[in-house]
Amino acid sequence: AVAVLLVLSCLVSGSFTSQEQVKEPPGPRPLPLLGNLLHLDLKRPDKTLCELSKKYGSVFKVYFGTNKVVVLSGYKTVKEALVSHTEEFGDRYISPLVYDANQGHGILFANGESWKEMRRFALSTLRDFGMGKRVAEDKILEECCHLIKIFEEHQGKPFDTTCPVNYATSNIISSIVYGSRFEYSDPRFKKLVKRANETIRMTGSAQIQLYNMFPWLFSWIKNRQLILKNVEMSIRDVKDLIKHLKETLNPHMCRGLVDCFLIRKQKEEESGGTETHYHEMNLLFTVTNLFAAGTDTTATTLRWGLLFMAKYPQIQNQVQEELSRVVGSRQIRVDDRKNLPYTDAVIHETQRLASIVPMSLPHKTSRDLTFQGYFIKKGTIVFPLLTSVLYDESEWESPHTFNPSHFLDKEGKFIRRDAFMAFSAGRRVCLGESLAKMELFLFFTTLLQHFHFTPLPGVTEDDLDLTPAVGLVYSPSPHELCAISRQ
Ligand code: HEM
Repeated sequence: AVAVLLVLSCLVSGSFTSQEQVKEPPGPRPLPLLGNLLHLDLKRPDKTLCELSKKYGSVFKVYFGTNKVVVLSGYKTVKEALVSHTEEFGDRYISPLVYDANQGHGILFANGESWKEMRRFALSTLRDFGMGKRVAEDKILEECCHLIKIFEEHQGKPFDTTCPVNYATSNIISSIVYGSRFEYSDPRFKKLVKRANETIRMTGSAQIQLYNMFPWLFSWIKNRQLILKNVEMSIRDVKDLIKHLKETLNPHMCRGLVDCFLIRKQKEEESGGTETHYHEMNLLFTVTNLFAAGTDTTATTLRWGLLFMAKYPQIQNQVQEELSRVVGSRQIRVDDRKNLPYTDAVIHETQRLASIVPMSLPHKTSRDLTFQGYFIKKGTIVFPLLTSVLYDESEWESPHTFNPSHFLDKEGKFIRRDAFMAFSAGRRVCLGESLAKMELFLFFTTLLQHFHFTPLPGVTEDDLDLTPAVGLVYSPSPHELCAISRQ
């Protein structure tokens, strides 16, 4: 048994190198089977990886069980990998759970020609129906009115902002995908949003990380069963919604992304093409991917923004002073952004400090390569540690504090920062970046125009906890705020 363990240990630690001695990235010594699990706090993997990078440098390896992961850390390294070597680092790693759930369809967890075509299709349709500036802006402004109404109903009393904010961002994706929004009271909509959020939360859980490391051992775990059930039910709901759109389809008018897909599918079928990517599974998973990637992320960022405002009232006052001076009480438009440098800086600083997707989504190398002197084999899992970029000490003056000056020059003008990589970079860069930025700007400014945010009575600003709830997306820990009307 000891001999077997020793052999395993050598294999796992990579001590048996091939004939041509290659230099692998450094890293802590792994144990057989467990890899570096004893070095990693699965409840805060991002933090542990940042710590390990101090010891092992900006390219290092760790073993999650028997899965070897190359971690990229710091602005220069992450940029060099994702931008200068975008092809080599640009594949997606499909974990066992993700494979169980969507089998390589859609965009988020897909590769190859199918991913390329679905990404291109979604980007061009989002441009027409979503990011096409005016259309998206009008949809978001309409949603702002509904959100304000809900906040007003609480009459300054404490409440949890999670549901209404999630409904608002889900409705933006709904309008783009289906061509229409839902009422917040619609029970089916409530269920759809709840299920999507639960799935994202559970996907980042320690249980699921264990399953991804040892699928043969942990296929029975509860979170896996729940996620697969949720995915199945979401797909059933999406099928239902698509069925209605199919029945009322007008080939000369796209109401949203689903119509565009169906029309394209019909055309490809008519032209007799056999190898089409426009099939049912890609439609279902592209739709669910856009909801999964586009609603919780934006909603969570907005909630961080409101929490930071309640925690730092002087910064909130400065935002409100700028809004009053530049916009007054009229409706805010995207064009106002260039005249609101302080507010723009606060939104960027919210995204930087909250760092809601700290390890990005896992990538995979598409071929063997030598990077910064290290050999990395084709198919290796890669974590671009976005937190290490957003907190890089050589890029940010005070990386661990909420400091809007990170995005302002000496005259108070807004400055773009290359190390602002909240949406990642390269060929896998967030597909919804422009839409998300527009949503964040319009929702955040409209809410601050109408409300002043405070902690509950009896709770001081210092008491407000900024420890994140860890999941696939890092959200604020459960809390309530008061939205005091400014009218
Ligand atoms: C991917 C962040 C909003 C759709 C990603 C990735 C990050 C990210 C870090 C992974 C990139 C990589 O693999 O390196 C965010 C943040 C958002 C946001 C912080 C909001 C504040 C949105 C929205 C949409 C969206 C609104 C939908 C319209 C996607 C899709 C991908 C993605 C489809 C997968 C891209 C691919 O694999 O090719 N996002 N995102 N995201 N995002 Fe976003």
